[in-house]
Amino acid sequence: MNLAELNKVAEAMVAPGKGILAADESSGTIKKRFDAIGVDSTEDNRRDYREMMFRTTDAMMNHISGVILYDETIWQKAKDGTLLVDVIKKAGAIPGIKVDEGTKPLPNCPGELITIGLDKLADRLPKYYEQGARFAKWRAVIDIGQGIPSYAAISTNAHALARYAALCQAAQIVPIVEPEVLMDGAHDIDRCYEVTEFALKETFQQLYYQRVALEGIVLKPNMAIAGKKSAKKASVQEVAEKTVKMLKNCVPGAVPGIAFLSGGQSDEEATAHLDAMNKIGNLPWKLTFSYGRALQAAPQKAWAGKSENVAAAQRAFSHRAKMNGLAAMGQWKQDLEKKAA
Ligand code: 13P
Repeated sequence: MNLAELNKVAEAMVAPGKGILAADESSGTIKKRFDAIGVDSTEDNRRDYREMMFRTTDAMMNHISGVILYDETIWQKAKDGTLLVDVIKKAGAIPGIKVDEGTKPLPNCPGELITIGLDKLADRLPKYYEQGARFAKWRAVIDIGQGIPSYAAISTNAHALARYAALCQAAQIVPIVEPEVLMDGAHDIDRCYEVTEFALKETFQQLYYQRVALEGIVLKPNMAIAGKKSAKKASVQEVAEKTVKMLKNCVPGAVPGIAFLSGGQSDEEATAHLDAMNKIGNLPWKLTFSYGRALQAAPQKAWAGKSENVAAAQRAFSHRAKMNGLAAMGQWKQDLEKKAA
């Protein structure tokens, strides 16, 4: 392992004013997104849609540091025959790859999941490196509900995250470590804080036991935020303050950067929260975005599967990337949204 190189990539992933585009929706998830805009989820349509984003030059060059790809996409060619990874690289961004293989029910833990995909990972990683991937992603899912999460779910998922991270670093690939506490429930922000704090502490303990070098990872957590069905919504300032407090209590300063998932927040909420955290300032790590839905919802709607809509979709993508790029520096203003609308 060359830690200096890993650290260089991790730093580039969280470079000032830049963040990560999560375009690694599994076949099932992208079908759901396409169903919502009335588009068939064919291989060509998935290619055209993703190519539209990767060719949004302004966004890619100025606000996107890296793109997380799904296995299909990393081997796919653009319409003109160029590999999509080459389109991404040409725009100055780093290709990355989702390497987990989804989730399965965790035995003895009703309603809880374990992320799978470790078995052949050591063999798969060099092929992804060869294809241009310099970072990877593994997502663990922790749900909050009646009597859950269990310690079994938190600890087995943390163990798997650390196993994955160690394998990635051995293959000279920066692991994005993603323990996602879902915001689907009716819990309030304090319950989310408590569960996320536990999951993060357990994750960093496992990273330590398994000798993962923190200078060569990027953390991808959820924010401390109320569940979608909660009657008690927290303000932007409360989300920002509690999330920063939680992270300061859990994440060593050796980690170069933290890139949040959006998790079902609206586009503008995800931007406002990130911005408010960076406005607090004086943080030991970079705080940026690694958004899927909060970057793609607007361009998806504008595109709607029609080639004549590509320019409008690219404008929508460019706008969201720019807003989040500003938020990553604490320089976003709500007025900028209104002017664009
Ligand atoms: P969302 O921003 O839509 O939550 O997706 C980010 C991601 O990569 C989840 O694994």
